[in-house]
Amino acid sequence: MDDLLKRLKQLEDEAGADLRKISGKDQLEEFRIKYLGRRGAILGILDQLRRLTPDQKREVGQRANLLKTKLEEAFGELLQKLSVSTAAGQKPGDSFDYTLPGRQYPQAKIHPLTSVTNQILEIFYRLGFELATGPEIETDYYNFEALNIPAWHPARDMQDTFYLENDYLLRTHTSPVQIRSFESKKPPLKILAPGRVYRHEAINVRSYSTFYQVEGFYVDENVTLADLKGTLFAFVKAFYGEQTKARFRPSYFPFTEPSAEVDISCILCQGKGCSLCKQTGWLEILGCGMIHPNVFKNVGYDPEKYTGYAFGLGVDRIALQKLQIPDIRLLYENDIKFLGQF
Ligand code: DAH
Repeated sequence: MDDLLKRLKQLEDEAGADLRKISGKDQLEEFRIKYLGRRGAILGILDQLRRLTPDQKREVGQRANLLKTKLEEAFGELLQKLSVSTAAGQKPGDSFDYTLPGRQYPQAKIHPLTSVTNQILEIFYRLGFELATGPEIETDYYNFEALNIPAWHPARDMQDTFYLENDYLLRTHTSPVQIRSFESKKPPLKILAPGRVYRHEAINVRSYSTFYQVEGFYVDENVTLADLKGTLFAFVKAFYGEQTKARFRPSYFPFTEPSAEVDISCILCQGKGCSLCKQTGWLEILGCGMIHPNVFKNVGYDPEKYTGYAFGLGVDRIALQKLQIPDIRLLYENDIKFLGQF
C-alpha cells in the first residue's frame, strides 16, 4: 500500500509541473490522456486496489479520488482559459488588451442626396403634405405648356432641355407633377413631389446635367401668400435650426404670380459674409409663388374659387451648402471613399 501512496504523491507533483508547462489545447489534451484517460495514471492506481485489504482500499481509494477531482478541476479551468484567450487571438498568460480598437465591418451608408431629401420630406409630412411622383420622361405639355410656358415664351430659355422624339423630353423640373395631380384630384390637395430632373447644361462645379428637386403645392379655397410664408419659414427653422433667418425676394416664374425666391441667412457665417454666400450673407434655397390662374384654367380648376401656392427646392444645392461639399460633381461620381464620410 505504501508504494501506491508514494506513487500518488509523485503523480500529484508531476501533474502540477506538467500543468504549469501547458500553453495550448493540444498539450492540455495530452495531459488529460496521461492522467485522467482510460489508460491514465489515476485509473492505473485504482486498478491496483484489488490486491489491498478493505481498509487499505478505502484509504488509497479516497486519496486517488481526491487527486482525480483536483486534476479534473485544474483541467476544466485551464480549458476555459485557453478557449477565451484563443478567441481573442492571444497566447494564454498574455493579459487581454482592452484598449485595442474594435474590428471594423463594412457598413452601407445612405447617399447624401437621399438623406437630405428624406429630411426635407419628414418636415413637410409633419405639416400635412402627402407624397406624389411623376415620370422623368415628360411631354412638352406637362413640362411647359400647362405650366403657362408656351413655345414662344422666353422663359423656356431658363431651362435648357433634353428633347426626345415625338414631343417627349426629359423633365426639366418637378413642376409637371402639379399638373398631373390637379388632373387626377380635386382640391383641397397638399402634395410633395420629390424627384430627378435633367438639364442640358455645361457641367461645372455648380451645375450638372441631372439633379434633384422637391416640389410642394397646396390648393384650396382661401390659400394665401401668408400660408406660403408661414409654411416655408417653419420649414427653414426645422431644417436649419431656430436661429436661421429667412427672407422672400421677388422673382419671376411663369407658373406663379406673384413669384419669389427664399434665401436663408448663411449657415456658415450666420450672415456676416463668407465665400459660401459670396459675401452676401444669404443663401438661395428655393423658388415659390402663388399658382398662376392660367395654370388652374389649364386643368379645369375655377381660379375664382381656388387659390394655391407652390414651391420647388433644389436638393443638390441644399446638400452642398449643408454638408459643405465644394463641387456638385462629387455627388454623382459615386466614389465610395468620398460618400462614406457622410
Ligand atoms: N420649377 C422651378 C425650377 O425648376 C422651381 C419652382 C419655382 C417651382 C417656383 C415652383 C415654384 O413650384 O412655385 O426652377
